Amino acid sequence: MQAAPETDLLSDQQATEVLSPGVYVHTFGCQMNVYDSDQMVRSLLEEGFEPVLSPSEAELILVNTCSIREKAEQKLLSVLGVYRRYKEEGSSVLICVTGCVAQQEKARLLKKAPFVDLVVGPDNVHRIAELVRWRREENRPVVEVDFTRPDQYRFAKAVPRAGIRKASAFVTIQKGCDKACTYCIVPFTRGREVSRPYEEVLAEVERFVDAGVREISLIGQNVNCYAGGCSFSGLLHRVAATPGLERLRYATSHPSEMGEDIFEAHRSIDILCPHLHLPVQSGSDRVLQMMRREHSASDYLHKVARLRESNPGIALTTDIIVGFPGEREEDFDATMSLVEQVRFTNMFSFVYSDRPRTWACRHGDELGRVDSKTAIERLERLQARQREISSLEAGKWRGQDVEVLVEGPSKKDSSRRQGHTAHNWMAHFSATDEQAPVGAIARVRVERTSHVGLSGHLVGIVSWPMRSGDSHA
Ligand code: SAH
Ligand code: SF4
Ligand code: F3S
Repeated sequence: MQAAPETDLLSDQQATEVLSPGVYVHTFGCQMNVYDSDQMVRSLLEEGFEPVLSPSEAELILVNTCSIREKAEQKLLSVLGVYRRYKEEGSSVLICVTGCVAQQEKARLLKKAPFVDLVVGPDNVHRIAELVRWRREENRPVVEVDFTRPDQYRFAKAVPRAGIRKASAFVTIQKGCDKACTYCIVPFTRGREVSRPYEEVLAEVERFVDAGVREISLIGQNVNCYAGGCSFSGLLHRVAATPGLERLRYATSHPSEMGEDIFEAHRSIDILCPHLHLPVQSGSDRVLQMMRREHSASDYLHKVARLRESNPGIALTTDIIVGFPGEREEDFDATMSLVEQVRFTNMFSFVYSDRPRTWACRHGDELGRVDSKTAIERLERLQARQREISSLEAGKWRGQDVEVLVEGPSKKDSSRRQGHTAHNWMAHFSATDEQAPVGAIARVRVERTSHVGLSGHLVGIVSWPMRSGDSHA
């Protein structure tokens, strides 16, 4: 066979580059979605797709959705309205809705948005490349929202992207949720809890650390119930033994599942960060009962005290819902009082939102709905007080040196760098890329603080990131 002339080969390569279809991903929601989006992009890259920075350049747009509150769902419809215009202007782009709204709405989504090409639930995102191919061949919408049987569920393997240095990475250890909090849609959209075998978790952590990642966050909706061949505290000890790993975090914890073995892990594992996100939802036992949270306010306070005995100075953050049906003024006062006692460093707070199929949605009228003016007024009061507490807590760091894991340039000012302290404060400081590269642990003198974080200057580098070819042995 005759070799093709060199020029032909070149033009062939150029043609392939030009023909690589572009994929654009728009991710809403929690860390589980961020992780799923990464997995989808990875499998589409293997299929010949290239990531593009603008949806207008894409031939496939993935919208990975969240339905935790009604607002999140409305956001989906408004972004779909924008993407629809590309089609109206003649683009052959495929629009694919994945994630929790896809699971909740299933084929109904095609009625609301008939221009959508694929609807893919969270249990099927690992099949994205195959489903896109199928959509192209069949030329009709694809709806894939069946849950995989828990005993057959396989976790997608995350592989660090070549050439991209990251300071930290999420590793999924569990999918779904077997709790039944009465306001929550997650058990309906993510299905039964399944734990990932610990050997897979350890292998994934090693892959990331070998690629230069220094901080791992183990993620799941209810990580304390992990059962992938060992207990959750057993997993923390195993992961912490990974050579080269500098920081370990996890989320999200359920207060009723926090036991002595986890408090002990916070005492004995030195790379386990002194920060815990422990959603309390309310400070009123009446409301906690209606929420079916399986803990009382005093149980929560007791666990906080045990944690602080194990690891004095541990920073706590939380989630709170105000305006749950039946919440009275005295219930809200109990929440304010709990917030006063715990002194969270940060809080995510929300007005209760009715979610389809949940118990609270079905029984909200009987319990007595809180009107939105009252709920918003409570939320504002809570947030105002939390801002003060966060400012005071952050202020304790003023004048001190903190260790910051460098994530990259500051989003506010590209001449500065940003990262998190072990206590999970966002920190900004003056330094160049060479002085504080991604993955370095920088010592920063804190000069100013606010309710959202710390700001200061570089004092020195505690440890440099691994260079390729370095070994942890
Ligand atoms: N699995 C985690 C978090 C789940 S969702 C946990 O159990 O804590 C994140 C937060 O969204 C919840 O902690 C809760 O505060 C909030 N949330 C969930 N459903 C909600 C609803 N229907 N209305 C308002 N906020 C809600
Ligand atoms: Fe939702 Fe409760 Fe499960 Fe968290 S623990 S995901 S709030 S049901
Ligand atoms: Fe949202 Fe689904 Fe996560 S509802 S918070 S994306 S599990």
